Amino acid sequence: MTAADTAHDSIRAVLWQGDHLRLLDQRLLPMQEQYLDCRSADEVAAAIRDLAVRGAPAIGIAAAWGVVLAAQAGRAEVLAACARLRAARPTAVNLMWALDRMQVVLGAGGDLTALTREAQAIQDEDLAANRRMGERGAALIAPGSGVLTHCNTGSLATAGFGTALGVIRAGVAAGRIARVFAGETRPWLQGARLTMWELLRDGIDATLIADSAAAHLMKSGQVQWVIVGADRIAANGDTANKIGTCQLAISARHHGVRFMVVAPTSTVDFATAGGEDIEIELRAGDELLGYAGTRTVVAGAKAWNPVFDVTPATLIDAIVTERGVVECPDAARMAALLGRY
Ligand code: MRU
Repeated sequence: MTAADTAHDSIRAVLWQGDHLRLLDQRLLPMQEQYLDCRSADEVAAAIRDLAVRGAPAIGIAAAWGVVLAAQAGRAEVLAACARLRAARPTAVNLMWALDRMQVVLGAGGDLTALTREAQAIQDEDLAANRRMGERGAALIAPGSGVLTHCNTGSLATAGFGTALGVIRAGVAAGRIARVFAGETRPWLQGARLTMWELLRDGIDATLIADSAAAHLMKSGQVQWVIVGADRIAANGDTANKIGTCQLAISARHHGVRFMVVAPTSTVDFATAGGEDIEIELRAGDELLGYAGTRTVVAGAKAWNPVFDVTPATLIDAIVTERGVVECPDAARMAALLGRY
C-alpha cells in the first residue's frame, strides 16, 4: 500500500465487534458521531431500512454480518433472516449479491466460522476494490481538474475509501483534482451532511452546492468531470444511482463535462438487461415534507419521493470497476470487460 492509498482515509463506518455489528449512525451525522450496535439480523435489517447504514456496498456488507448474527442465534433462523435482510431495500444489488454469497456458504453446510470468514471476505474485498478503482479512475483525470460528486459514495457508504469518493481521494492525493464540489442531495442530504463531513474530516477541501446549481457550475467551467457511484448497473451499462444523477448526466453532456460512474463489480447485475428493469425505491413523502422532524411544507401537501433514477449508458463516458474501465459502455463492452460471474 502506498502513501497515496492511505492519504485522506481515516473513516470506517461498519465495524464487526466479534459478537455484534457496530454502525456509525448516518442519520445523525454530522451533528452527532454516534454508533448503533446491532445484535440481531432484524436489527441490521432495520438499520438498512432506516438508513443508519446506507450506500450500496455498505448495506451488502452489513447484511452479510446480519447473516452471521442470525447464525449465532441458531441455524434454523438463518434462511428466514436472509429473506428479511433481502427485503430491506430494493434497488442496490450489492445487498442481494452479498446475501447470495452468504447463502452459497450456508448451502454448502458452512458453519458459523465459515459464515464469519465469508462476511469478512466481502468486507475486505470491497476495501481492496475501492483502492483499485481509486487508481484507475484518478488516472482518467487531467491534472488541475475540478470535479462534482453527488450523494455520498465514500468510507461511509463502503468498507472504506469509497467508490466515486475513492477516485476523488486518490485524485486529490495524486494532484490531479484541484477542486471538489458536492451537491447537497435533497431530500436526505447525503451530500451536505455526509460527503462534506467525510471530505473535511479527511483533509480534502470541498465546496457544497445546491443541487439546482449544478448546471450553472458546469457552465462556469470549474468542473471537468462529474463522478458518481451506483446502486445497480444493468448489463447494458444503464446505471441506477441517487435521485438527481440522471439530470447531472444530461447537463454534463450539454456542457462538455465528462461523466464517470465508479462501482465495484458487485454492483453490476448482468441479470438485469437494461435500466427500465431496475426497481426504483419509493420512500415516504415525509422525507420531502419536512426536515429533522420539523414540517416545512403546508399541511395537506402530497410528495412523490423516488430516491434513485437511471442514467442511460449513452450519457456515461466511463464506468470504472476494480477489474477495469468500460469506456462508452454498452452491452457488448460491459460483457467483454467484465464477463459473467
Ligand atoms: O439511499 P442511499 O444513501 O443508500 O443511496 C446511495 C447512493 O445512491 C450511492 O451513490 C450508491 O449507493 C453508491 S455508494 C458507494
